[in-house]
Amino acid sequence: MKLLEERILKDGIVLGDNVLKVDNFLNHQIDPVLMQQLGDEFARYFADKKITKILTVETSGIVPAVFTGLALGVKVVFARKQKSLTMKDNLYSATVYSFTKDVTNEITISKQYLDENDTVLIIDDFLANGQATNGLMEICNQAGAEIAGVGIVIEKSFQKGRKILEEQGMDVYSLARIKAFENGTVQFIEE
Ligand code: G4P
Ligand code: NA
Ligand code: NA
Repeated sequence: MKLLEERILKDGIVLGDNVLKVDNFLNHQIDPVLMQQLGDEFARYFADKKITKILTVETSGIVPAVFTGLALGVKVVFARKQKSLTMKDNLYSATVYSFTKDVTNEITISKQYLDENDTVLIIDDFLANGQATNGLMEICNQAGAEIAGVGIVIEKSFQKGRKILEEQGMDVYSLARIKAFENGTVQFIEE
């Protein structure tokens, strides 16, 4: 998506070899006009999939997920992150390890908000190693829900997430696909 690539070039900051800081419009300050355009684009791509629910993980996935839900006219559920669980009776849960942050979280969704009648679209802000998305897929499997696809705002294509999801047959639609960071500048995959 040209508009998003231009915004990343304008306001993104490359940190080290593999991190892109986008606090200007996505991860700290939020540009709702841009976010609505992203949500509309996800909705356009997945329009014929009969989506009944959007799933994401707190915190930064929520904004693009909500705009996608608005465009598709469906509810949005965000998984909560917690360190460890005692009561899990009414929860679906999955363990998510972050390579980037070297931290393990349990993500949970109430059984009240997801079941076997749902067709889910997973939305997230970044795709790096695919662990967050894998956790959400595991939760969908626990619920017996169908997964229609995965929408990602920014994919770091040089990390292994994309490949892991494709190997599982997922339809992954990323609005910006980063091939590499070279000398502090962002190189996109040409579509
Ligand atoms: P994975 O799910 O693809 O395996 O990602 P990973 O564990 O590597 O990423 C952990 C966290 O770091 C995630 O946010 C993810 O969105 C974020 N992240 C990964 N790569 C980048 C990057 O290049 N730039 C930025 N800005 N974020 C990145 P999180 O811990 O869930 O945090 P939040 O959603 O509460 O902000
Ligand atoms: Na994040
Ligand atoms: Na995220």
